[in-house]
Amino acid sequence: MGAGYEGEPAPDPSLRRDLARRAAAARADPTRVLLEGVHALKHALRFGADIELVLTPDLTRLTELLAQLAPDVVVPAGTQELERQEWRDLVPRELPSPALAVARRPTGSAAEVLATAGLVVVLDRPRHLGNLGAVVRVAAAAGATGVLTVGDADPWHPTAVRAAAGLQFAVSVAATDRLPADTGTRTIVALDPNGTDLLGALPSDGLLLVGTERGGLTPDLLDRADQRVRLPMRPGVSSLNLATAVAAALYGAAANGDGRR
Ligand SMILES: C[S@@+](CC[C@H](N)C(=O)[O-])C[C@H]1O[C@@H](n2cnc3c(N)ncnc32)[C@H](O)[C@@H]1O
Repeated sequence: MGAGYEGEPAPDPSLRRDLARRAAAARADPTRVLLEGVHALKHALRFGADIELVLTPDLTRLTELLAQLAPDVVVPAGTQELERQEWRDLVPRELPSPALAVARRPTGSAAEVLATAGLVVVLDRPRHLGNLGAVVRVAAAAGATGVLTVGDADPWHPTAVRAAAGLQFAVSVAATDRLPADTGTRTIVALDPNGTDLLGALPSDGLLLVGTERGGLTPDLLDRADQRVRLPMRPGVSSLNLATAVAAALYGAAANGDGRR
């Protein structure tokens, strides 16, 4: 879809049905990304996503919202308005804002994420897609260049995309079965509540390893770390939430002068 807005609701019910069917199918399609809500759509547009279709129950409202929230972004040409009942059938759980879009999924691999020139967050078997999305969001905000998940959690799952407000398009993301044996010259820093070192500056091209919600980092990943860094906590508190720990580490390290935003 190109920039610009034609402003005409789809007059043809069969066209609307077809677009709604494609949006519903995108939820489980590994080649597509479902963007739920205006923030996800805004970030996807801003960071160069290839948007295939945009649906809304209220084109005027969507246009107003984008103008308010993202004056740099225009409603894509070809955006189609659905009738109320068509929208309800497509979106049974109310979205925070009136937009549902489908983009092509970039073909990212672990090697591509590890080839980015910057700090990469490595999540060891994250269980909660909301946490995964929150990590992508803070990684993008804090200037990390990639997020790699080890295990079966999909960083492009609609729940993770929603939690990240579509910022998967602003960093390099991929899932992998295991962290490749060769990670080049990157310094590996494990974020570990039982670590010995206190957080200082993070290496600008480091790998930041983060453990799973219950069990923390697996021993084989911990063994690969050059440093095991802890964030100090009041006695009696056993750990921070995974995404909170990543946020504290990235912004704490930036405050310690590692040159990222
Ligand atoms: C909910 S915690 C897991 C707690 C787990 N029992 C453990 O010992 O790691 C999820 C991940 O967040 C990071 N984390 C949480 N609190 C931390 C802290 N105080 N210092 C360093 N990392 C922390 C670690 O990477 C941890 O594996």
